[in-house]
Amino acid sequence: MPDSLPKLPPGLAALLARASVGPQRLTEPAPSDEALRLAVAAALRAPDHAGVKPWRFVAISGDDRAAFGDFLAEAMARFRPDFPPDRIEKERMRPSRAPLFIVAGASIRHGFKIPVWEQQASAAAGVMNFLNALDAQGFGAFWASSPGLENPEVKKALGFEEGDMLLGWIMVGTPTAERTRPMRPEPDAFLRRWTKP
Ligand SMILES: Cc1cc2nc3c(=O)[nH]c(=O)nc-3n(C[C@H](O)[C@H](O)[C@H](O)COP(=O)(O)O)c2cc1C
Repeated sequence: MPDSLPKLPPGLAALLARASVGPQRLTEPAPSDEALRLAVAAALRAPDHAGVKPWRFVAISGDDRAAFGDFLAEAMARFRPDFPPDRIEKERMRPSRAPLFIVAGASIRHGFKIPVWEQQASAAAGVMNFLNALDAQGFGAFWASSPGLENPEVKKALGFEEGDMLLGWIMVGTPTAERTRPMRPEPDAFLRRWTKP
């Protein structure tokens, strides 16, 4: 797809332009509280079967990022004693790599008529909307993962229940320079039509 398609509705143009910005290319300022609130509001527009409302975001900023990094490193050393020191240190530094560190999770209703996978899908769709809303407001973000997301101790410390799921670490800030928006594959290869045999 071309990088800019001038006659598109603005919302669609924004969707077609979205790209991740890696933490090495993120700087201050972080989004304001209001910009963050708008991104969460966008997340809440994700489809949600039977009103489960699974979307959860935990924001960590300022000095709390280093404090959370220390906790993450210690919790990871307990969770994965097989991890070498450099992997533990990577966890320690992770939250401080961008001005704003967000933990995205899914609050899951177990034993409910809506299967867990649908609730996870809704929460993940919310994360996508969240990223799009940040991008549309001029911020950069990067969705990352690590085994720490599966650590029950980390989940609990962030206010999640045992049966909930952490979906990712999202690093957020302002892009350091004109962001790159790499070309994407042509969409045709990703669309199949089924017709009556
Ligand atoms: C659930 C999830 C976890 C991810 N975790 C990582 C990760 O740990 N490290 C990484 O380099 N990219 C990770 N990615 C991919 C990046 O977020 C990003 O999509 C990728 O670098 C491509 O950039 P783009 O979004 O501009 O296409 C993850 C994506 C998703 C959806």
